[in-house]
Amino acid sequence: MIPSPRLVVGNWKMHGLREQSTRLARAVAEGAQALPDDVRLVLCPPFTQLASVHGIINAAGPAAPLCLGAQDCHTTSSGPHTGDISADMLSDLGVQYVILGHSERRQAHGETDALIRRKVEAAEAAGLIPVVCIGETMEERLEGRTTTVLATQVEGSLTDDFSGVLAYEPVWAIGSGSVPPIDELERTLSLLHGLLQSRLKMDDIHVPILYGGSVTPAQAPTIFSIGSLGGVLVGSASLEAKSFLRIAESA
Ligand code: G3P
Repeated sequence: MIPSPRLVVGNWKMHGLREQSTRLARAVAEGAQALPDDVRLVLCPPFTQLASVHGIINAAGPAAPLCLGAQDCHTTSSGPHTGDISADMLSDLGVQYVILGHSERRQAHGETDALIRRKVEAAEAAGLIPVVCIGETMEERLEGRTTTVLATQVEGSLTDDFSGVLAYEPVWAIGSGSVPPIDELERTLSLLHGLLQSRLKMDDIHVPILYGGSVTPAQAPTIFSIGSLGGVLVGSASLEAKSFLRIAESA
């Protein structure tokens, strides 16, 4: 059964000054009106553009399939943490989703599974939907350690009663132009489903599993042919409204 709605999450990363971000969000909001009901777009601009993108999403009206997401949050709700942003602050701005544990944060900021789990707790406490990223590096893949790596990340990053979104982003696929062969991706998704069942001690799991890593309009129809896929997490192709909307049309 195809999960509904399918999520198409745009991770803008550290891209976009005011004018460009506003233009992009407006173009996505306009195009989103033509999308089928079972697709939801989540725009995740940098912190600095959240308020203006929120204004554009709001103006599109409650019927528009558009949500606002952020790219990180702190583990606590307030305190002496210079430069950090809490989940409560995001929620206060109208944010609904937050990406956590992206490999770029795991690598560049040394984020561990334990830290990510604390961020997930903070996000859940603030009423946000965490989108937790996991994935193996090329080295781990070549050493045949993908299953162990994913199992460790699912075990360590998620809370016991996790009800957010899981994003499988093989690190080697991000920004590389390569996506895993579709049969391999299908096997990984069913592995992740099993890992979620044992992590959450439940047979009936309602955690959408997204794929991320070089998702383009050309690749999207093949990726979405996997019936159990909950959606996609898109990096560079989300910076261009046309490509992002074309991906969403394939969902
Ligand atoms: O979070 C999305 C991302 O890491 C994938 O980036 O540019 O390969 O789509 P990209």
